[in-house]
Amino acid sequence: MRHLMSPLDFSTEELDRLFTLAEDIEKNPAKYAHACEGKKLATCFYEPSTRTRLSFESAMLSLGGQVLGFSDANSSSAAKGESVSDTIRVISCFADICAMRHPKEGAPMVAASRSSIPVINAGDGGHQHPTQTLTDLLTIRAIKGRLDRFTIGLCGDLKFGRTVHSLINALVRYENINFIFISPEELTIPDYIIEMLREKNVSFSEVRKLEEVIPKLDILYMTRVQKERFFNEEDYVRLKDYYILDKEKMELAKSDMIVLHPLPRVNEISVEVDDDPRAVYFRQVKYGVYVRMALLLTLLDSVDK
Ligand code: NCD
Repeated sequence: MRHLMSPLDFSTEELDRLFTLAEDIEKNPAKYAHACEGKKLATCFYEPSTRTRLSFESAMLSLGGQVLGFSDANSSSAAKGESVSDTIRVISCFADICAMRHPKEGAPMVAASRSSIPVINAGDGGHQHPTQTLTDLLTIRAIKGRLDRFTIGLCGDLKFGRTVHSLINALVRYENINFIFISPEELTIPDYIIEMLREKNVSFSEVRKLEEVIPKLDILYMTRVQKERFFNEEDYVRLKDYYILDKEKMELAKSDMIVLHPLPRVNEISVEVDDDPRAVYFRQVKYGVYVRMALLLTLLDSVDK
């Protein structure tokens, strides 16, 4: 039985198979409409989310399965002091697979170690967000046709943004990826990631200004400043509008650069950019459902064998 804790849990060959399955699901949804009949997905969300939770629920419903769960720690027994280990043992009796989001780094791993059903990490604190990464990779592969040979700019809150950390981890396995990290001084990429890139001899640079580097980019990954992970409101207010991608900046970019964003967007992309064909963040949401469908099928299959 397999869990998904980090995007590295799958080899690049396994990811290829997963993405091919996701693309087939996109083309032939009817073929998969009953694939999970009789199966239940539990969504255990200890931290606010609409997109990721609904994406999982939509994925399971499109496969003919059913969903149950909670979307707020206060409405679960965690409020009574129950541990994650106990909760997952109980959930294992109710459902066939579980997607868990938790504000504490590592909580889904603790759950997986005690679980008798597959557990998917749906985001743990500022650490990892593997299903967003699968979504990002599928979007790049579907639109660009490949996952290697890119200059990718990651812009915004690179310190607390877990989607950024997960995506970098996943992309270093492909050839010729050049990272450009664009962030304010206070929100730079964590040292452990810089060390990992140096060890693997991956090309990267760190800059403060988006305008300076945008002409070089094949992909621009925008992120919001992660308000909930700040210790004080003043710092957040000072940094929240540091980057705003607008029409003017888009004019400096290549004609085939694509703009991704895990969403929710706050101010970092001006709405006037939404109509630009290079803005693919709403298409990205659709790929998120297809890739979660492919993931649910793959992990449930790992139980049957
Ligand atoms: C991201 C997250 O939860 O980390 N959102 C998401 O999964 N769609 C990004 C964010 O909240 O900024």
